[in-house]
Amino acid sequence: DSLGQDLILRPLASDDHTRGHLDLLSILTAAPQLSPTAYSDIFAHHKSCPSTYFTIVIVHESTDTLVACGSIVLERKFVRGGGLIGHIEDIAVAKSMQGRKLGIKIINTLEAIGRAKGCYKIILDCSKDNIPFYEKCGFKHKEYQMVRYL
Ligand code: ACO
Repeated sequence: DSLGQDLILRPLASDDHTRGHLDLLSILTAAPQLSPTAYSDIFAHHKSCPSTYFTIVIVHESTDTLVACGSIVLERKFVRGGGLIGHIEDIAVAKSMQGRKLGIKIINTLEAIGRAKGCYKIILDCSKDNIPFYEKCGFKHKEYQMVRYL
């Protein structure tokens, strides 16, 4: 189950802004640099909600740069007897590393976290273009996304 030479998968670290975390996320959406304090405040907020936020990254060790990342956010419901839903968010693989199964590795790992924590389902929003990728990861299409920007 190797990732390939020079790559390690680990939880996000408090100083991963120095390893290009925001550059990586900028392939998804606007991800302007944050000050070190702002970054570590967000990291600390996630840490203060144990069993809610889980972010994992794949690091290219020789360049000490993040090449993939993803998160699962766990939501405790009143329905389903207090069931847990896992929301998969912010999946990104660096352009130069796409097509090497890092994306599927990230999703499988997040799914394993959701399963271990007791989620009864995992959901995510994606573009039409990404549907084949998520189907390969075992997801199926259901419902529609609505948004209202504030
Ligand atoms: N269309 C068709 N098939 C695809 C696509 C695609 N767009 N992307 C991946 N696949 C297939 C691969 O061919 C592979 O199939 P195989 O197992 O038969 O060979 C399988 O899906 C797994 O592919 P990976 O190599 O693991 O995919 P990759 O590492 O390139 O990651 C990802 C895919 C995450 C979509 C990446 O291309 C990326 O970061 N894109 C830009 C950012 C983005 O769109 N992120 C997802 C946003 S949605 C969200 O965050 C919830």
